[in-house]
Amino acid sequence: MSESMLDVIGQIETEGLASLEQASDATALEDWRIAFLGTKGRLKKAMGGMKDVTKADKPAVGQKMNQTKNALESAFKAKSGGESDSGSGAAKGKSTGKTLFDITEPGVDPQLGKRHVITRTISELAEIFARMGFKIAKGPEVEDEWHNFIALNIPDDHPARDPLDNFYLDGKNLLRTQTSTVQIRVMENSEPPFKVVSMGRVYRPDEVDATHSFMFHQIEGLYVDRNVSVVDLKTTLLQFAKAYFGEEADVKLVPSFFPFTEPSAEMYMKMKIKGKWDWVELGGCGMVDPNVLKAVNIDPEEWTGFAFGLGIERIAMRKYGIPDIRWLYGNDLRFLQQV
Ligand code: FA5
Repeated sequence: MSESMLDVIGQIETEGLASLEQASDATALEDWRIAFLGTKGRLKKAMGGMKDVTKADKPAVGQKMNQTKNALESAFKAKSGGESDSGSGAAKGKSTGKTLFDITEPGVDPQLGKRHVITRTISELAEIFARMGFKIAKGPEVEDEWHNFIALNIPDDHPARDPLDNFYLDGKNLLRTQTSTVQIRVMENSEPPFKVVSMGRVYRPDEVDATHSFMFHQIEGLYVDRNVSVVDLKTTLLQFAKAYFGEEADVKLVPSFFPFTEPSAEMYMKMKIKGKWDWVELGGCGMVDPNVLKAVNIDPEEWTGFAFGLGIERIAMRKYGIPDIRWLYGNDLRFLQQV
């Protein structure tokens, strides 16, 4: 019996030391500790057999038992505590089953937040237009009918005034539908010449799809001075196109209609999309309508000007290759971390 007891203990020691060698992480080490040194582990089970050992053999078996226990405990301590592995840069930890780590492993980069792609685009646009001498102007998002429609030469019966096409708040005030409102605020509050851009949110109850949102951003430009012409408008837009989309970018103005400009045009920009150059419509522009200048007491005989309004989402989507406007506002981290 004692003979086989000594064999059992010897086997536990041999197997224990061998399988400890294989344990490569904290979980495996803890599993090993439970299997060999735990309260229901193999050593404890073997100790239960002591009651069957003859009195004469007890000292030898007891001694072997202690020896094995010490050998397994110190091997475990060395492995999990790193005492015998210190030269290899391996895990440091305690024999308490706490998480081990490898000090030689590259660290995990902390997740840094960054500004939203629209906020970044607004800063980029502001910088480009500032270099061209435009100052930044601001206006409120809750507007009255005067600034959103009347002063912009949009009469009462114009379809754009339809309550279904606007977010009215109280029958008189509404969420602005375009940044052109800021043109009026700038011209009301100071004397010409004006050379301003204004970036901000606008709201329309448009059906949401890949290119339309009910809230989006526009950049409005206004330049009023003596003898401002369509050439100035086109040159400014072309300079912007080249500064933002590269030297090969181009601008095309296609006749259109806006109540507050005459003549009016849709602005198309030639830019590279997936390696292919293509014309993309980014917004509207034109020469400030004399009626608008009159509405803010500026003499259209003396002053002329141009204005433009571009969709910022459309610009950012082209620049960063974003196929769906909804991605910009879905708060999906997979998207936000990518752009
Ligand atoms: C205007 O808003 C005029 N105020 C632009 C303007 C300013 C013309 C100054 C002349 C002088 P329009 O409704 O076309 O124009 O909108 C301009 C741009 O806003 C569009 O070309 C598009 O890029 C963007 N846009 C319009 N509706 C949406 C929408 N629902 N979602 C995202 N972008 C939109």
